[in-house]
Amino acid sequence: MSLQRLDQAAIHALREKEDAAFARTHPRSHALQERGRASMPNGVPMTWMTGLYEHPTIFPDTGVGAYFEDVDGHRYLDMNQVDIAGFLGFAPEPVTRAISDRAARGASFLLPTEDAIAATQSLAERVGLPFWQFTGAASSSNAEIIRLARVYTGRDLVLMFEGKYHGDVVDVLGRVDGDGPAPDTPGLSSNAARGEVTIPFNDLSALEAALAAGDIACVLSEPMLTNFNLIFPDEDFWPKAQAMIREAGSLLALDEAHTHSFAYGGLTNLWGLKPDLVTLGKGLGTGVPFAAYGMTEQLARVFEANSRPPSPIEDGSAAIVTGGTTFASALVLAAARAALEECLTAEGYARVDLLGIRLAEGLEAIFARRGLDWCAPLIGGRCGWVLGPEFPRNTEESAATMDIFFSNTRRVFMANRGIWEALDTAGPACSFAHSEADVDLYLEVSEEFVALTTTPS
Ligand SMILES: Cc1ncc(COP(=O)(O)O)c(C=O)c1O
Repeated sequence: MSLQRLDQAAIHALREKEDAAFARTHPRSHALQERGRASMPNGVPMTWMTGLYEHPTIFPDTGVGAYFEDVDGHRYLDMNQVDIAGFLGFAPEPVTRAISDRAARGASFLLPTEDAIAATQSLAERVGLPFWQFTGAASSSNAEIIRLARVYTGRDLVLMFEGKYHGDVVDVLGRVDGDGPAPDTPGLSSNAARGEVTIPFNDLSALEAALAAGDIACVLSEPMLTNFNLIFPDEDFWPKAQAMIREAGSLLALDEAHTHSFAYGGLTNLWGLKPDLVTLGKGLGTGVPFAAYGMTEQLARVFEANSRPPSPIEDGSAAIVTGGTTFASALVLAAARAALEECLTAEGYARVDLLGIRLAEGLEAIFARRGLDWCAPLIGGRCGWVLGPEFPRNTEESAATMDIFFSNTRRVFMANRGIWEALDTAGPACSFAHSEADVDLYLEVSEEFVALTTTPS
């Protein structure tokens, strides 16, 4: 009953005050959004820019390292990392240098550049899968992975876990429940959801039952769930799940769009997992829009056999639909290579690990000083506020230890004090650009917030 320690009256009163202060102190952002409404729905170029936050949007101007500034002159310590797409910090020097140089010599050719070889070999070495492709976003990587898995297995269905988010792709935006196919959002064909099976995370019996019919092409999952706070796998989950998936003739596709930021080579490498396919995304934290996916040699051969022949119209053969005219551009490959070789080093990740420990221990100390039995799960530099004594094992347990109004009040409270808090279903994270002093600043404001919003024991 840990949520009962939230002082809801105090939280609501504080929220009103903080929302008013936020609106008052961001007149330029407000004016820009109003101007933008003439040419963009909601005044923004991409709907998430308003939908992800309960407070009005702001317009940033400059970002360097762990901080960015908005057009109203406010400076923020970024604990959100652009929802992982900025985990190297803003304007990482090696990436900025590589893309400036590349842009000056031609950004895109629809042809491979030599950087592709260095980047894919680095990915192979760290993730453990030998063959790679680049795409425009993790969504596209997942779409291509699913097609490849279907061609390889000759099966149709994709199995995912509750709490999933695998992108803006028809194949992953639904589920089949008791009433039949159920698309997650409006605008999707109900037939699309027919191909998707969703079960609770960490539930090996449900997995066994779902695999029994032999119609699952691939199990698509994050190694741990990151879009519903942090949900770790039980110790025996992946070893047993991997064996069951293999036994059933299905493929394991791990979506490391987020979790690649938690460890060198992602959790696939850290936990010694053996997937057939791995999605990476979010521009590897560079701020440049691209993604990638890795595959086994067997899958690469199937991919080659089903690739677009030089003259598909003449010989009439079909190929798996993959790619895009701006995917794997020279610019993207230069950014990927610079990030992999100069930023995403084992030492870099080890430094972030230490910051993560400081953050999680600091939060748990704050909870303890207030007599709260809450905890802070930690992986790499990413942490979570769990308003209960135990880490959740599935989305039901996670929902019971979250209060979205509390999270969003914390977000606006922190924004008014120069901290850009994580999204409401995520948790604060240290980027490669953070320092110990940055973590301490976050903790200082967190303690102030906890004192104002919980009842003392
Ligand atoms: C685990 C996971 N996979 C895929 C995606 C899709 O990434 P993108 O929106 O960059 O395509 C997301 C987005 O948040 C994600 O969290």
